[in-house]
Amino acid sequence: MSSVFLRDIVKRFGSFTAVHKTSLEIPEGQFVTLLGPSGCGKTTTFRMIAGLLDPTEGDIEINGKRVNDVPIHKRNLGIVFQNYALFPHKTVAENVAFGLKYRDVAKDDAARRVAEALALVQLPDVGARYPKQLSGGQQQRIALARAIVIEPDVLLLDEPLSALDANLREDMRVELKRIQDRIGVTTVFVTHDQSEALAMSDQIVVMSEGRVEQVGPPEVVYNTPASEFVANFLGASNILPARCTGRANGHVALEADIFGQVAVPAEKAPLVTGEGPAKLVLRAEKLLLARAETPANGAIAVDATVETVDYQGQAVRYFVRAGDTQLQAINMIDERPFPEGTAVSLRLRPRDCTALPA
Ligand SMILES: Nc1ncnc2c1ncn2[C@@H]1O[C@H](COP(=O)(O)OP(=O)(O)OP(=O)(O)O)[C@@H](O)[C@H]1O
Ligand SMILES: [Mg+2]
Repeated sequence: MSSVFLRDIVKRFGSFTAVHKTSLEIPEGQFVTLLGPSGCGKTTTFRMIAGLLDPTEGDIEINGKRVNDVPIHKRNLGIVFQNYALFPHKTVAENVAFGLKYRDVAKDDAARRVAEALALVQLPDVGARYPKQLSGGQQQRIALARAIVIEPDVLLLDEPLSALDANLREDMRVELKRIQDRIGVTTVFVTHDQSEALAMSDQIVVMSEGRVEQVGPPEVVYNTPASEFVANFLGASNILPARCTGRANGHVALEADIFGQVAVPAEKAPLVTGEGPAKLVLRAEKLLLARAETPANGAIAVDATVETVDYQGQAVRYFVRAGDTQLQAINMIDERPFPEGTAVSLRLRPRDCTALPA
């Protein structure tokens, strides 16, 4: 097992900077996900760790050793790409055994390790087949078996599930996480899919435009986004202009247009330091629609009108208007959603809010 450390890494392509000065630690045994929209620099960072791309500046360390000048095949990495990249004219067993060929592994030892890797990905009986005789999901498992059979120090996965259809993807992410837990290998996983990142990671590294916006466990980046970008990229948020009017009793007092005084727990506003302009961040699923006559039970209540109803089965996404402010709310529903045009009461608990500097 190994840790990976990026120290002041920069990657420029000509005059374009794909990764701005970044330092990042991937602790031993952890599953760390690089998450962000297309073009934010995930693959570029990934390729620098893999040794497929030289950083313009900075050091890459694996296990405390600088590896900038160590070629890819000497870094002992298991790599899986989006498109599987299996050899079509080799059997599954030959594909999986490929990485062992260059590692002085005795023949029967290699056969045993291939069988173990195929068992681990739950495809013990397909060794004699060719890749094209397998489904996409099965091929991706073989690519994973090929990556882990060498007992890599670090497992690197770049969007390994994105070629799979939605259901298979969800099964495979559970499967992949199970395998990673089993072998405990330090893993760097790249995705632009927030639900994958939330479901699988020990730590999520949220990236935007070549910069790291936030690093933290899934619950932390989800519940306490460190920037407007993170609040919008992970889940759906309402971000409202507000003023910080002071702090008392472990709360930050915010004055936000339609909601009036909102006392946000101080730990949910760690970046709001002084009084003055700020932003109130309210997750769409924390804004509840209720009938006006329903007791508010200590929640803040604000009158609003339902403008748009986006029915999603177990939940509904509403767009509502309160005064000049349009807000989105994602609510679980028992039976029928509120129809468009309904006058409702919005309910908001201050402890569900977070705050950011303006
Ligand atoms: N070889 C290259 N030459 C020039 N620019 C490049 C090169 N490789 C990547 N870039 C640019 O660097 C930026 C980051 O690319 P990168 O592939 O890291 O994005 P990504 O986050 O992996 O996106 P995606 O989710 O689409 O895979 C992009 O603007 C891309 O166009
Ligand atoms: Mg990419």
